[in-house]
Amino acid sequence: MSKRRILVTSALPYANGDLHLGYMLEVIQTDIWVRFQKMQGNECYYVCADDAHGTPIMLKADEMGITPEELIAGVSERHQADLDDFHIDFSQYHSTHSDENRYFSELIYNRLNKSGYIKRRVISQSFDPEKEMFLPDRYIKGECPKCGAEDQYGDNCEVCGATYSTTEIINPRSVISGAKPIEKDSEHYFFDLPQFEEELKNWTKAGHLQEQVSNKLAEWFEQGLEQWDISRDKPYFGFKIPGTEDKYFYVWLDAPIGYMASFKKLCDNSDLEFDDFFTKGSDAELYHFIGKDIVYFHALFWPATLIGSNFRTPNAVFAHGFLSVNGQKMSKSRGTFILARTYLEALNPEYLRYYYAYKLSSKIDDIDLNLEDFKQRVNSDLVGKVVNIASRSASFVVKKFDKELSSHCIEQDLYDEFVSASTEIAGHYEDRNFGQAMRSIMKLADKANQYIDEKKPWQLAKEEGKMQEVHEITSLAINFFRVLMTYLKPVLPEMAEKSEEFLNIESLNWNDIKSPLLSHQITKFKPLMTRIEDEQIETMIESSKR
Ligand code: MSP
Ligand code: ZN
Repeated sequence: MSKRRILVTSALPYANGDLHLGYMLEVIQTDIWVRFQKMQGNECYYVCADDAHGTPIMLKADEMGITPEELIAGVSERHQADLDDFHIDFSQYHSTHSDENRYFSELIYNRLNKSGYIKRRVISQSFDPEKEMFLPDRYIKGECPKCGAEDQYGDNCEVCGATYSTTEIINPRSVISGAKPIEKDSEHYFFDLPQFEEELKNWTKAGHLQEQVSNKLAEWFEQGLEQWDISRDKPYFGFKIPGTEDKYFYVWLDAPIGYMASFKKLCDNSDLEFDDFFTKGSDAELYHFIGKDIVYFHALFWPATLIGSNFRTPNAVFAHGFLSVNGQKMSKSRGTFILARTYLEALNPEYLRYYYAYKLSSKIDDIDLNLEDFKQRVNSDLVGKVVNIASRSASFVVKKFDKELSSHCIEQDLYDEFVSASTEIAGHYEDRNFGQAMRSIMKLADKANQYIDEKKPWQLAKEEGKMQEVHEITSLAINFFRVLMTYLKPVLPEMAEKSEEFLNIESLNWNDIKSPLLSHQITKFKPLMTRIEDEQIETMIESSKR
């Protein structure tokens, strides 16, 4: 098979707060897939960025008494430190507030405009007369028109569940100034989505989406597509719309363009050609990993924007479900709204990478991080099964055989079984059925441990004339470990690196496992991973309550 050229993205996190374990589900899923592709010998790039524009970021900076630029600079640093510590291996991490993104946003807008896809009309919206700004729904609160509950958001009631428009809410007030909002007219710019209905219907049925997502889209088509409001009035933190004095691109217009901008930045710093990946008809592959809440933006607005501005469309959008903790929505008071940094202060990132992998499939079902199950799963699979294979065999090889593996494979057929699982495991990785990949790998780990249990090298070692056999059994066990760590490398890059050191090899490669290591020098075994202790989890929960 010829080498594929692949560009992969994760959704861009907002630059107004720290990353939490929900977002980590997304980047860990993407990172595993990217690392797997690279191990298969494909050319694969992974880009992301901070999503730096919009009202919440502007207001937050206001509140902190700093400029939005200062706010996003600090957040970007913290985001990247968190991502780095979780071993997320980006080719490029950029910002939507960048020259590259301004360039592509203007280019795309101008092309859309020229082709007649941008419409203008005056609409009336809630306006804060004190702060002198239009108010998004979340910035209006009042009493529910249905049940009378106080202090409800402008568009829905958390007490009775009713949804309504901001004009219906009783005694409305601006969350920002407390003033009573007035209605005010303003001209807005719209992207004429309905013009793309036919093309989008075809695109969404052409195998670019998961089945559950296609079904959702069929419902949306039935309800009818509407023009999309892509402009915001000042004050706003974003890019000015070309040809206007005081209109800005809505944050969601320039956010996905941020994928391009980040990749452009990568191209500028390497010999990659931007056009090879984004020109219509390009045979490079493009994939977006996203959460299920932003499907509308990625499966309708984004492909339509690309079609309308004459760029290629993605090969696929891969949506995942939402993370809950201990069966419930993440919650500050329960201590389950866990920040990436809070986790890192208490626990090894690879525990979470493994647990997420174990739980992930190609479906969009929600995923629960049950902390008790998390502890048991990691301790039993990684420490109890995988590390155990190496730790119980290494000491023999090191102490009795001068660190050298045997020159002969005692059970070639059994070894071949481990190797021939590689096709199936690779298939699961490719299809994003990571859970199935992990289960297949753990079955092999069980088999390896059973083999050692049956052969009992520690007993044989006490018998006369059995040392050769002990050598071959323990060497085979180490070769099993090598195969398993190769399969686990996309999930556990750090443990893989430590294993490479232990095995004294350049790198664990998918293609190298075909033959076992024979007459090969290994090094002294150092603990590769320790067990999760209850106290670590308690510390994390306690710190999350603050
Ligand atoms: N900025 C937009 C995305 C723009 S992409 C061009 C955004 N940001 S976000 O910070 O709210 O979310 C970023 C990603 O994290 C989204 O894909 C979202 O679905 C995902 N998640 C946010 N909370 C999540 C969970 N609790 N669980 C799983 N994924 C979650 O949306
Ligand atoms: Zn109500």
